[in-house]
Amino acid sequence: MAAPTSLRDIPQSHIFRKGDVFVLFGELFGRGYANGLVNEARAAGMTIVGMTVGRRDENQKLRPLTAEEHAEAEANLGGKIINVPLMAGFDLDAPEGEPTPTDLLAPLTLKSWQDDKLDWAQIERCRAVGVQRFKDSAARAMAELDGLVPDGSNVFFAHTMAGGIPKVKVFLAIANRIYKGRGERFMSSRALLDSDLGKLILMNFDEVTANTFQYLIDASAAIRGRVEATGGQARYTAYGYHGTEILIDGRYQWQTYTNYTQGYAKKRLEDVAKAAWEKGIKATVFNCPEIRTNSSDIFVGVELSLFPLLNALKHENGGAWADVQRQACADLLKDGVSLQDLLDQIESYNADGVITEFRDFDRWPMDNSPELAEVMIGTSEAITNLHKERTALVTDLLSALVLEGTGPLMFREAANPAGPVLWLNHDVIARQLNQLHN
Ligand SMILES: NC(=O)c1ccc[n+]([C@@H]2O[C@H](COP(=O)([O-])OP(=O)(O)OC[C@H]3O[C@@H](n4cnc5c(N)ncnc54)[C@H](O)[C@@H]3O)[C@@H](O)[C@H]2O)c1
Repeated sequence: MAAPTSLRDIPQSHIFRKGDVFVLFGELFGRGYANGLVNEARAAGMTIVGMTVGRRDENQKLRPLTAEEHAEAEANLGGKIINVPLMAGFDLDAPEGEPTPTDLLAPLTLKSWQDDKLDWAQIERCRAVGVQRFKDSAARAMAELDGLVPDGSNVFFAHTMAGGIPKVKVFLAIANRIYKGRGERFMSSRALLDSDLGKLILMNFDEVTANTFQYLIDASAAIRGRVEATGGQARYTAYGYHGTEILIDGRYQWQTYTNYTQGYAKKRLEDVAKAAWEKGIKATVFNCPEIRTNSSDIFVGVELSLFPLLNALKHENGGAWADVQRQACADLLKDGVSLQDLLDQIESYNADGVITEFRDFDRWPMDNSPELAEVMIGTSEAITNLHKERTALVTDLLSALVLEGTGPLMFREAANPAGPVLWLNHDVIARQLNQLHN
């Protein structure tokens, strides 16, 4: 049986310093995972360079950032942003004058989508255009980056791209049902995957979430070769997701959010890192825990695995600081609701037979089921209702902590990585946080 390869010890290596360059391949959002790495790079005194996905004009044509947008993005990152649009995926690409995949999806309705067929020859033409556009843009961006990387310096490429949901009304309605629906509103993720619409979406996920890591590795070959020839080193990291070990019943156990439709693309991302590694390129996918960000908020229930982090902080010898976190979480709950009751509720959720059935590493990513939706979405709603405010949740606080813990773990491990695919579970994250704060 395959098993996760987990980082168990806090890494001690450190090679990045002032004069070295940190490159963020993707945009930086307030709650996004990438903040953890950017903070480490800044603290190490590295030169920070970012990319943009660009923006779309009123005709959906991709354009660079305006001067104002560019200045705002650079202030947000605290570094230079190379203004070449790196929007991945092909949902809005097509040969000149021909329909894009988004155009092909326009006639689909909530009634018809499961039987609607797509023109795969046309989709393949669009995919080819989108891939070439991205590769050409990545080459231009790397040519600009080249001038910012001194000979002999170390370069850290941090890939953060994930996504690829086409912006069509019908899919927003379907996604709302698959990820948020229970009872009469439940929708099967298998029905989506078996449809032409689902097949197209998976192809687009592959492009955005996985293939861009390969394109980055390829496009930066010249920079990698030059720094290595002059005494420096190049490293590549990407954020994966493939379930997480959390404390359940007193021991760390692997669990996952279901249905994680992007899971196929995340497996492909792991394969990209493995293939690069075999060629001697130090590329590592760090499979990270579930947190709440702009990208994950659509998955109702994904946040439930965060609560046991409070137990992990204690379990890993957390001191006064861990107690303060626990109290800060307790303060977010309604009067009369105890944090222990909430944690007990999560413990019984994790012991529920409907949920344990999905703890099957070999069959990941599994399809959802009406029973799962009932228990998971029901628990998520019940727990949210225990808070004073829906806008200040325990999982906001815990997400920020996980993000903070992953920063130094990934930054240090990337200096001397143990392999191409590593899991960061609640054990090592809790230990890292306790070490940072005690
Ligand atoms: N949130 C989680 O629970 C979780 C767990 C494990 C791994 N991750 C991974 O962490 C990474 C960062 O995600 P996050 O959750 O911090 O959210 P985020 O929204 O902050 O980041 C998403 C990133 O994807 C980029 N992106 C989105 N669509 C794109 C497109 N079409 N082309 C190019 N780039 C595009 C954005 O610019 C941004 O950099 C992703 O790879 C995500 O899968 C997230």
